[in-house]
Amino acid sequence: MRLLDLFCGRWGWSRAFAARGWECVGVDWNAPSEIPERCKFLLLNVLLIDLAYVKNMHFDFIVCSSPCEEFSVWGMKHFHPNPKYPEMGIKLFNHSRAILEASGVPYVMENVKPAQKFVGQADSRCGSFYLWGNAIPPIMPQGIRKGATQMRRDGRYKRHGGVDEQMYKAKDVRAANLATIPPELASCVADYAERLLEQKSGWRKISKAATLTASHGHAWTGVRNSPELMPVLAAPQGASPARLAHAAGRGTPRHTPRSGSWSHARTGLPA
Ligand SMILES: C[S@@+](CC[C@H](N)C(=O)[O-])C[C@H]1O[C@@H](n2cnc3c(N)ncnc32)[C@H](O)[C@@H]1O
Repeated sequence: MRLLDLFCGRWGWSRAFAARGWECVGVDWNAPSEIPERCKFLLLNVLLIDLAYVKNMHFDFIVCSSPCEEFSVWGMKHFHPNPKYPEMGIKLFNHSRAILEASGVPYVMENVKPAQKFVGQADSRCGSFYLWGNAIPPIMPQGIRKGATQMRRDGRYKRHGGVDEQMYKAKDVRAANLATIPPELASCVADYAERLLEQKSGWRKISKAATLTASHGHAWTGVRNSPELMPVLAAPQGASPARLAHAAGRGTPRHTPRSGSWSHARTGLPA
């Protein structure tokens, strides 16, 4: 499986995907100090990437952490009473989102809370990481805090090593460390990406089975024999309990007027 990691920075997203066997392509206009195993690096301005590139490379999933600095200052009114309008932050975010949406590839974008004021409300969040996209895990760890907040709350610079190590690093190195996607979040998204892809291949199997069996007059036989595929088939179609039970070979459900619930005629189990 192939991941596109836009604005890959220190490979926070890619490391988690690569550890699970994915091939990752990271794009950034700053060369990284290292390229992890199973990762390829493309030194490029993301504004030069277009829809054709994303489509031609046949990625299975895309992650994108466009720069958050310009947005962040809007969240620090005490330190920055007159912040500069985040023109580049908005441009990079919107350019990426337009391509990812049009590509049809499942994707997750990450940025900071104040970005919402300029690019629209986030679809979800994981601690202080705000997320937009069409493939965000419905349940995520919430104890993760971004960069400085994490450090302040811990009272010490726990996440990236000791106080001294962090304090004496150059400002830009410190900023890059703080922006890195933590493994808890990256692994959670990688896990969900794999489940989405499994489900997608399940759909393909079903539609193939349906076409084959329908043409032979035994519609849904293949599905009935694969109970694990049933939820994938049933949920999006919004089928009635009767149809689902019939397809699953559990007999026709009957309605119990007193409880108002459905149960299966043959098994008595709830529908
Ligand atoms: C928020 S950091 C990404 C953090 C990364 N996801 C990680 O886990 O380390 C933003 C990155 O965007 C890169 N960047 C900023 N503007 C860019 C552009 N126009 N094209 C490509 N990369 C850019 C920066 O070099 C930086 O590495």
